[in-house]
Amino acid sequence: MRLTEEEQAMYEGRDGPAVQRAMDLLMRYGRALGAERLVETNNVTASISASTPFMRDFAKQKGGMNAVFSEFSLDSPDVVEIPKVKVFTSHVQLGFDPAQAARMGVPEEAVHFYKKGEAFTTGLGVQAMNTCTPYQVGNVPTRGEHCAWMESSAVIYCNSVLGARTNTEGRESAGAAMLTGRIPYWGYHLDENRLGSHKVELGIDVETTADWGMLGYWIGDQVQERVPVVTGAGGRFSKAPNLARLKHFGAAASSSGGVEMYHLVGITPEAMTVEQAIGSGRPVDTLHYGAEERLATWRKLNANATDTAVDYVMLGCPHYTIEQIWEAARLLEGRKVHENCELWLFTPRAIKTIADQNGYTKIIEEAGGHILSDSCSAMSRATPEGTKVVALDSAKQAHYLPAILGLQAWFGTTADCIEAACTGRWDGRLA
Ligand code: F3S
Repeated sequence: MRLTEEEQAMYEGRDGPAVQRAMDLLMRYGRALGAERLVETNNVTASISASTPFMRDFAKQKGGMNAVFSEFSLDSPDVVEIPKVKVFTSHVQLGFDPAQAARMGVPEEAVHFYKKGEAFTTGLGVQAMNTCTPYQVGNVPTRGEHCAWMESSAVIYCNSVLGARTNTEGRESAGAAMLTGRIPYWGYHLDENRLGSHKVELGIDVETTADWGMLGYWIGDQVQERVPVVTGAGGRFSKAPNLARLKHFGAAASSSGGVEMYHLVGITPEAMTVEQAIGSGRPVDTLHYGAEERLATWRKLNANATDTAVDYVMLGCPHYTIEQIWEAARLLEGRKVHENCELWLFTPRAIKTIADQNGYTKIIEEAGGHILSDSCSAMSRATPEGTKVVALDSAKQAHYLPAILGLQAWFGTTADCIEAACTGRWDGRLA
């Protein structure tokens, strides 16, 4: 790989051993990918926490968070002191919400360690956003900006909706990027890899957030890790989808498949026309999504549930927007969560503060629900005790929770889910 003078100096140890290890890791990673060089990045989303019991034990035995970073983020043979980060870095979601640890069944000792980990994180200059949706709370890269982001649902949003450029990085490459401001120049950093591979023609309008989730789930299944270009019914979208719809669409497409980038013609920034999204003269496959495909997807997402007695409703995958919390609060106002059911909503901490301020937290708590942050049930593997049947408005969470926790999962609209929370029964139907 070709290095600039600055990169060569970091590689030779000018900025200390941690930066040297980071450059070494990026070189090995870049060579394996066939990258010819690195690209500058000023925007990283990463995980540097020690959220599993194994990592906590490792930290205790090997000398704390410097040891964890050296081993798990830098693949370093020895423990090196980690300097402050060189570039703007936000932290992704973690293993639990420290403010709701007891509710999530997390022991006090883990909370204590979590707080130490967070002090280490912020001490390095990393922003403790602790969310899979950093673009909601202050990390909003601009079009064309080169980034190094973890978390598939955030990556697809970053590439497709914001028009910034990132591959799905891992803990190691993102850790190395935050110390060097560099990442291998390959994949979605390059113009040619951002062009569409499949044209998806919609035969129906896509309306609700659940609908956008189903469409994403179907497309991911069809195209796997390729780049879909979606055209609205009759050639144009009747309504521009909002942030929540695009968030659910992308998260679903990156769950059933490995989609990291999509184009919505007339909506997303690199797809003002089909030709712009696909490139001129490139042959692509064409797929059709209509009422039949929508019904099949809804059935697939509900395939493992038979018991209509719901004991847990989880909302907020990816983390809820303030608009979604407002919507949930309106649906819940004046009602009560059923005694046999629990309702948990996940959102970034910063958005929870707005929900507190606007009175939505009070409405949700008075109804018997709870707002949590920093994590989700799939990440934390935490659900209310005894949960067997869960209701969800997220195709991504419906994809993962049955596999991770062996639960029955119902999928539907937010309104279906709030209804299930208040009645303790699933009655969702495809409208
Ligand atoms: Fe976020 Fe958890 Fe879903 S981390 S994208 S809420 S699986």
